[in-house]
Amino acid sequence: MDAEATRGRTLVEESREAVVVLDEADRVLMASRRARQTIEGIREGEPLPPELLTGAAGVIPFVVPYELDGRRERLVYLSREGDTAAYEELRSGFTAAVSHELRTPLARLLTLLETATLPGEDTRELVDQATREVEQITELIDEVLFLSELESGARVVSLGPTPVAPVLDEALDELAERAARASVELRVECDRAVEVAVRPRMLRVVARNLAENAIRYAGPDTTFTLAVETDADGRVTLVGRDDGAGVDEAELPRLFERFYRSDAARASRGTGLGLAIVKHVVTQAGGTVEAHGGRGRGLEIRCSFP
Ligand SMILES: Nc1ncnc2c1ncn2[C@@H]1O[C@H](COP(=O)(O)OP(=O)(O)O)[C@@H](O)[C@H]1O
Ligand SMILES: [Mg+2]
Repeated sequence: MDAEATRGRTLVEESREAVVVLDEADRVLMASRRARQTIEGIREGEPLPPELLTGAAGVIPFVVPYELDGRRERLVYLSREGDTAAYEELRSGFTAAVSHELRTPLARLLTLLETATLPGEDTRELVDQATREVEQITELIDEVLFLSELESGARVVSLGPTPVAPVLDEALDELAERAARASVELRVECDRAVEVAVRPRMLRVVARNLAENAIRYAGPDTTFTLAVETDADGRVTLVGRDDGAGVDEAELPRLFERFYRSDAARASRGTGLGLAIVKHVVTQAGGTVEAHGGRGRGLEIRCSFP
C-alpha cells in the first residue's frame, strides 16, 4: 500500500466518529474502530445493513459522495440520534451564553473607564465600581474553568473519607464577614464523626456555594443552616437551608440549570453557575441533588452522597 492509502486508512480507522467507506454496492470498504464497536452489523467486505442508511435504526447518516479512479464511493458518518448533535448544540449554546455573560460586565467597565476621563467625575467611586465589575468577570471565568475541569474528569471522589465538619466550619468562617453585612446568620449542624468519600476541595465548593446564595438572596435577618444528616444505610445528606425569600415552587427544578437565575436575583451579581457546579460535584460523586421550598418559605438544597 502506498503512503497516501495508508494515511487514508489510518484516518478512517482512528476517527473519533463512527464512519464507514462504502463502494457502489453499499459494501463496507473501511470502517472506523468506533463504528465497528458501537454499531451492530458493520463488517469490512460485507454490505452495510440498509436500515443504517435510512435512519430507521436510530442512527442518522451523513453521506459524502466522491469519485476515485472512476469508481463512486461514499463516506458515511453514522451518529446516534441525539448524541453528538445534542452535545454540539449544548457546547455551542454554552459558549454563546458565556460570551454574553462576559459582555455585560465588560461593557459596563468600558463605560466606567470612559466616564472616569471626564473632568469633575468622582474617580474614587468609579474605581470602586470598576473593581466590582472585574470581580464579577473573574467569578464567571473561575466558575467556567471549574466546570470544565469537572467535565474533563477532574476527580471529585477522594481516595479516603473526608471528615465533613471541619470543611464546613472553614467554608462558613471565610464568609462570616459578608454574612454579617447581609444580616444573615450562618450555622453548622454536623456530627463531628461524619465522613464522606469526596475531596475536601469539592466539599468546600458545595458548602460555599450554598452559603453564598443564602447571603445573596435570603434577605436580612434570616438564618442559613448547613446540616448533615445520616440515615440507617450510611447515606450522608448535606442540607443547606435558609428561612428567607425563597423562589417560586415552579422554579425549583430549574435552579440547577446553567445560567438560570430567578427574576428576583437579576438585580444582584451572580453568574447562575453556582448550583450547576453543586449538582455536577454531587452527581460525579454518585449522589443526587434536590431543591425544596417556595416563595417566602426559604430554600432548602439537599445533596445526598452514597
Ligand atoms: N438561598 C436562596 N434563596 C433564594 N433564591 C436562591 C437561593 N439560592 C439560589 N437561588 C436562586 O437560584 C439562582 C441560581 O443560583 P446559582 O446557580 O448559585 O447562581 P447565582 O448565585 O450566580 O445567581 C439564583 O440566581 C437565585 O435566583
Ligand atoms: Mg450562587
